[in-house]
Amino acid sequence: MMTTEQTLKLIRPNIASLKPYSSARSEFIGSGVALLDANENPYSIWGDPGLNRYPDPLQRRVKQRIAELKGILPQQLFLGNGSDEIIDLLIRCFCEPGKDEIAIFNPTYGMYSVCAAVNNVAVQSFQHNNDFMIDAQYFLKTVNDSVKVVFICNPNNPSGNTQPIETISKIIAEFKGIVVIDEAYIDFCTGKSVLPIISKYPNLVVMQTFSKAWALAGARIGLAAAVPELIQVLNKVKFPYNIGVPSFKALEKAIANSTAKNIHIDEIINERQRIFNILQEFPNVAKVYQSEANFILVKTSNADRIHRYLMEHGIISRNRSRDPLCENCLRITIGIKTENAKLLGVWKNMKLD
Ligand SMILES: Cc1ncc(COP(=O)(O)O)c(C=O)c1O
Repeated sequence: MMTTEQTLKLIRPNIASLKPYSSARSEFIGSGVALLDANENPYSIWGDPGLNRYPDPLQRRVKQRIAELKGILPQQLFLGNGSDEIIDLLIRCFCEPGKDEIAIFNPTYGMYSVCAAVNNVAVQSFQHNNDFMIDAQYFLKTVNDSVKVVFICNPNNPSGNTQPIETISKIIAEFKGIVVIDEAYIDFCTGKSVLPIISKYPNLVVMQTFSKAWALAGARIGLAAAVPELIQVLNKVKFPYNIGVPSFKALEKAIANSTAKNIHIDEIINERQRIFNILQEFPNVAKVYQSEANFILVKTSNADRIHRYLMEHGIISRNRSRDPLCENCLRITIGIKTENAKLLGVWKNMKLD
């Protein structure tokens, strides 16, 4: 198990010594003052919300709300421009370009590798087994010393399955680097989040997003939860105003009315089961994988042709057949009832020449 001290040693030296950009307003709490510090236009020409002003770089108000919602402290919370920004920041904070590496378990979310490549950071790829499970023992035995960050996507995109808590706990407790658990789809799953154990493991970063269950993909808000010492590092490196005022307004409204989102989560889960049951009866479907997310992975007789056929009939799915273990697989997002009916109708009447 890593201590906080050991974890902080993983930070790249230039980041550890970085003096962040400071905005005069971050140090000021209160109202009724003349804001003459940030070269804004003083006129709120476009009405509410006051878009003439920069947002609070420390995002204090919204963090308070999210912290209450998630049962953590505001100091344990970082907000990114989508979790995609957080993936990039984690790699930038911990991996020396051309020297350090990240580890991933394939097939998985593509942005881990893309962000690594942008930062000139190599990727050590481990493969899930045939059931998309991680072999924690093998990972711990064979991971390169230069791997500073490992990304575990749980539930995994594109397979939709989750890892047993024993696998995840073992890697968090024994890996000598940062362990990122990407819980983008956690609200659709029966398994539990590892959010409650962030205080215990200084090397653990839990990522979640408001883009999926919260129906705010367009607002671009993702979160990372970790010990305050790690959160401070991410805060230092982020752009001061990384999320816009309208996005925060939308999020505050959503949090105040969160039961609405729970109804839709239930609907999506029910539809996921219905589509699962029906698709597996179709002759050109070899297997439908059980999913704990808002999509399902389907092994077909010919993914390229079926993908094209669906496209020609107004249905856009994701062809994952070039991913390891995903030969002839399509990933299909659960839509609204009419979209799902369209998918099933078109698929049922499919005639491939
Ligand atoms: C596993 C996973 N993580 C992160 C993201 C990125 O989400 P965000 O919209 O918060 O950037 C996605 C988006 O599809 C995803 O599938």
